[in-house]
Amino acid sequence: MATISILDLILKKKQGKALSKEEIEYFVQGVVDDAIAKEQLGSMLMATALKGLDDFETTCLTRAMMNSGEVMSWPESWRGKIVDKHSTGGVGDKISLVLAPILASCGMKVPMVSGRGLGHTGGTLDKLESIPGFSVTFNTAAMTKILEEVGCCIVGQTETLVPADKKIYATRDVTGTVESVGLISASIVSKKAAENLDFLILDVKCGKGASTNSKEDALVLGARMVNIANGLGINTVALLTEMNNPIGKAIGNSLEVAESIQCLLDKGPSDVMELVYQLGGQLLSRAGVTETIEKSHSLMEARVRDGAAMDCFRKMIVAQGATEDTAKRLCDPETDIWTILPKSKHVTGLKSEDKGFIHEIDSKLCAVASGKLGAGRSKSGDAIQFGVGLILQVCVGDTIDKGDIWVNIHHDSDTIPAEVLSLLEKALVVSDQKLTNINGSRVMKVIT
Ligand code: URA
Repeated sequence: MATISILDLILKKKQGKALSKEEIEYFVQGVVDDAIAKEQLGSMLMATALKGLDDFETTCLTRAMMNSGEVMSWPESWRGKIVDKHSTGGVGDKISLVLAPILASCGMKVPMVSGRGLGHTGGTLDKLESIPGFSVTFNTAAMTKILEEVGCCIVGQTETLVPADKKIYATRDVTGTVESVGLISASIVSKKAAENLDFLILDVKCGKGASTNSKEDALVLGARMVNIANGLGINTVALLTEMNNPIGKAIGNSLEVAESIQCLLDKGPSDVMELVYQLGGQLLSRAGVTETIEKSHSLMEARVRDGAAMDCFRKMIVAQGATEDTAKRLCDPETDIWTILPKSKHVTGLKSEDKGFIHEIDSKLCAVASGKLGAGRSKSGDAIQFGVGLILQVCVGDTIDKGDIWVNIHHDSDTIPAEVLSLLEKALVVSDQKLTNINGSRVMKVIT
């Protein structure tokens, strides 16, 4: 075989030609070994982002990235039950916190490796770290023990899981090559494939608060990821879901933990529960736990109502470092949760300047406002303020009067920055026309 050189690969991709499996494996190995100069890595990623990868190239890249580190292994008796969910990132997206324990209470094993927030969308790990004592650093042996005892864990990416992605993503971030269907798909699916899953559900967000704004782009991304993951032997389906308006009422770290606990007490917002049941329903019915998606919904509802899902959540946070007492009080509806979770110094209500029907609550503007209050980070490693954020007082479709409070702003600073107020004032869209096209579901399409 002719020797491969990284320069040849850059030139080949620059001409829009497809790379072979061997060439892609050579590239990934070079990344892991630090054998590729950073200029060449940047150049290769730019050529890839501009010319694209076809399905075969994306599969080869995903597999090579997955094999760049540890592929988790699980007890044989768990086969057929190992499931996970991935979201492309939403605003107020606390679905993982609710769904993982529900799936565990239905007999599944959920080794969820999750991420931190960057930019305007929050990270599941940051939300969970607002629980005193909660840790996200566990190796596979420790995860196995938690899964054995509890059924679910939500942890961070270890050093050994897909190291190629860490290096490639860091370069994509500074070379304008994050937006690429092939690179995004390989990055996301390689990490899920390294979890050695049987079933995967992808929540592909679409709309103002999502990284993918248009339905067409979200469909292309969803279809590519489903194809690649299925090709790697993981039974996968994606839901395309609306992300113009925030999910639920809470945006911000401890505020979203509190809302998740309300969901597990069966008192959560209906849109959050609908999404949880739709995503979980796909997994449970595919895994053969129930015959239909509808029966899966009923099973999950029953596990929430009989407290089994909350029990898994409580056990998970103890297994991940919270004390028994903290966990017990956090999950007890009689306890004031704000004696446990971090809360902001101040809460200020913002009034509507208009009267009429609420057509939209712009999720992107809400997320940026919440980030500017301190709930997010603008660069990796920035500290976050756990208690700050927003609690919406209204939903799309509601009527509102001028002067009604539509959002409570939870803030630590003595005054709310003018920039935050200006973002929020633009976020609420009120019209004198009644909204007629609300169908009550965020799910726009099932991608199989
Ligand atoms: N999330 C990832 O993990 N990778 C991407 O490339 C984009 C989003």
